[in-house]
Amino acid sequence: MNLKDEYIKYFVSKGHKQIPSAPVVPENDPSVLFNTAGMQPLIPYLMGEEHPYGKRLVDYQKCIRTNDLDSIGDKTHHTFFEMLGNWSLGDYFKEESIAYSMEFLTKVLKIPIQRLAVTVFKGNDMVGRDKVSAEAWKREGISEDRIAYLGEENNWWPNMENFGPCGSDTEIFYFNSKDEVPEKFDPEDDRWVEIWNNVFMEYNHNQDGTFTELPKKNVDTGMGYERVVAILEGTDDNYKSSVWKNIINTIERVSNRSYEGNEESMRIIADHIRTSVFISADTSQIKPSNTDQGYILRRLIRRSIRHAKKLGIDINSDWEREIAISIMDEYSKYYSELVENRDVVLDVLRNEKLKFNKTLEKGLREFEKIMKNLDEEVLDKDDAFRLYDTFGFPIELTVELAGERGRSVDIKGFKEKFKAHQELSRTQSKGKFKGGLAGGGSEEIKYHTATHLLNAALKIVVDKNVHQKGSNITSERMRFDFSCDHKLSEEEKKRVEDIVNGWINEGLEVTKTEMKKEEALKSGAECMFIEKYPDIVTVYSIGDVSKELCGGPHVKNTNELGHFRIIKEESSSTGVRRIKAVLE
Ligand code: ALA
Repeated sequence: MNLKDEYIKYFVSKGHKQIPSAPVVPENDPSVLFNTAGMQPLIPYLMGEEHPYGKRLVDYQKCIRTNDLDSIGDKTHHTFFEMLGNWSLGDYFKEESIAYSMEFLTKVLKIPIQRLAVTVFKGNDMVGRDKVSAEAWKREGISEDRIAYLGEENNWWPNMENFGPCGSDTEIFYFNSKDEVPEKFDPEDDRWVEIWNNVFMEYNHNQDGTFTELPKKNVDTGMGYERVVAILEGTDDNYKSSVWKNIINTIERVSNRSYEGNEESMRIIADHIRTSVFISADTSQIKPSNTDQGYILRRLIRRSIRHAKKLGIDINSDWEREIAISIMDEYSKYYSELVENRDVVLDVLRNEKLKFNKTLEKGLREFEKIMKNLDEEVLDKDDAFRLYDTFGFPIELTVELAGERGRSVDIKGFKEKFKAHQELSRTQSKGKFKGGLAGGGSEEIKYHTATHLLNAALKIVVDKNVHQKGSNITSERMRFDFSCDHKLSEEEKKRVEDIVNGWINEGLEVTKTEMKKEEALKSGAECMFIEKYPDIVTVYSIGDVSKELCGGPHVKNTNELGHFRIIKEESSSTGVRRIKAVLE
């Protein structure tokens, strides 16, 4: 039995449509580096937009969480994981959702009800106790002893602080131990492991701090794939489950050591290379760098290289290639980008390895020197920063090395220095958050201005209701996703090009104004995700042809852009088309 397939099959049989996993780097949401939950790509639909696939959806979503990098190496943590999810967008609600969960767990997965327990929201100042869910659980055979009523710290998702769609939830726990199952459920007892979260999203947490009801009552559920597979297979070490078997076997082979006795390094290598494979195969074309997602990718690869060295692997051999291939083989059936971008992934890993190998030995010698002269317990921020800046040591590598010698690192000091350094070298960082512009070079800036012109031209040629759904810019080309239900004809493409080039030749001035968000919206300025913008926003106008909320930066005059040419127009997803274009 394969959990992923069974999950999809079950919910499809209940009228859900399977939607594809969205890329790990969100295409339309510059406020997060990676998708961290299945619901993230669905936010507009939870907020009320109609989903092209309907009201009942199911998927497995690639997620990455990197807030816990230090925990990787234990039995249960992963930076990449797959979240199984099903959604009701204004269709069924608490009772049906709970009934589906119970049927899936007890009938399909055949988990004895005796091993299950749940938490239910006990209420807060705003919303009362969730009696409907509690009653539904009892009807499904969960006894009162196995229901714990908890507050907003536990049973409100995502939490009371984040803005956006949210609501109370009910979480399902499994008794994962050989001990006898206690009659009474104690959520503090860690033999009870959370396996599934059903969120009842009926509120929006607004930027002004208020909570208002969403247009529809939605259900958003999430089940951690690797955790549940491990449980079903009866192991308490996720890395011993079938999810990891081939990958760990490959690491054993390339290191000529066995997993037993080398668990920590093998888990770190397995986890970090797997995440690196998925980041570098993603449509966003992330490469290792010193900022944002690129920096996460760099840290993951470098840390795995260090652990490969620890295992005695000859790091100049093709070890990383073999591991990456075993990962891609394992997942290709589900993720076609691993087939399409196989060579890209292998190149990213190899190039970063070669780069880091050049400084790793020198860096380790430098580290030993620092250690020899270190009188105190703590390695100071300047040394940690020098190891990063000159030798490319990610901070967790320094922390790990110091830890092995019983020392710690001034991480806080390092982070301050790192931040100051990044701000200095990334004058565009503010613009990036607001506008989603990846790079800050002069070519990227030109392309960024061109996306505004393209957006305006599409409104004239295709439909005034065309909206931007995403964009991705490199120094060589731009990619622009927009809502549109048909393939553009040759004439439409030609007209769009002509209009954009007309504006470029007119030499329109690009101007920037700051104003209140409401005012900007009233003035008809275009924007993608209003709830993500601060109260005072920057609006860029191009002549009188375009006006958009955007962090910039932009060129001063359209005559700097050169000639605009569409190189490709294709489908991106249902109801969304994608244009790739160049400036020549
Ligand atoms: N969005 C919910 C979670 O991630 C289901 O737990």
